[in-house]
Amino acid sequence: MAQQASGATERIYVHPLPVRVWHWINALGFIALILTGIQIRYVDLVGLMSFRTAVHLHNWIGFLLIANFFIWLLFYLFTDKIRVYHPELSPMKHFRGTLRQLRYYGYGIFRGDPNPHHVSVYRKFNPLQSMAYQIIMMLVVPLQFFTGLLLWDLHRFAGAVQLFGGVRVVATVHVLCFIFFTGFILVHPYLASLAHPPSRHFKAMITGYEEVEKKPD
Ligand code: HEM
Repeated sequence: MAQQASGATERIYVHPLPVRVWHWINALGFIALILTGIQIRYVDLVGLMSFRTAVHLHNWIGFLLIANFFIWLLFYLFTDKIRVYHPELSPMKHFRGTLRQLRYYGYGIFRGDPNPHHVSVYRKFNPLQSMAYQIIMMLVVPLQFFTGLLLWDLHRFAGAVQLFGGVRVVATVHVLCFIFFTGFILVHPYLASLAHPPSRHFKAMITGYEEVEKKPD
């Protein structure tokens, strides 16, 4: 989401408080889940904490993040801010916008080209972000939480585990989501740092305000 600062800028409110609270609890929680998850899976190789402590922490943080997810979901469902997630209905327009953004990240940015996406209150995401965040929040995060819940108490959820294809399938899906998030937690802050200055989007996720180029009247 980088942007070339050439003309006058203005501050617009893009990240409402519930989204920011959800986001930073979620970010810290995911880091903790990844670390405790590694400890649980590679108990013989890693010595961050005891296996018991790792399991306890992993369970509690998992439940905290499931509850936290509903702050994000309910906020968007019950406010008009859901518009930031409305998909572009013309597939061609969406495809062209995504390609333009990919070309910028892979090539244009190294030549100092301006970001093709202009942030506004209801269009804070570029087509790539909009699609990625929707898939992550509506598919991968729920899948990670759901499989985690099943693994937490295999007896209680025996029926659901069978329906899902057995313990091995549930555990494999949980680990695949874990691998995805381990990569995501590196790539996502990197992409968020592609701005002038690099701290711009991080500050916005803390204060709520994004600095954008002023549109001519
Ligand atoms: C070290 C951890 C993280 C950092 C530094 C970070 C940073 C940021 C920043 C700066 C933004 C602002 C918008 C942008 O530029 O994309 C953002 C938005 C977002 N991040 Fe993260 N993030 C982290 C972890 C995560 C994790 C673990 C998830 C999901 C599992 C996540 C999901 C999102 C989503 C969905 C948005 C858009 C929120 C909305 O406005 O609805 N982030 N993040």
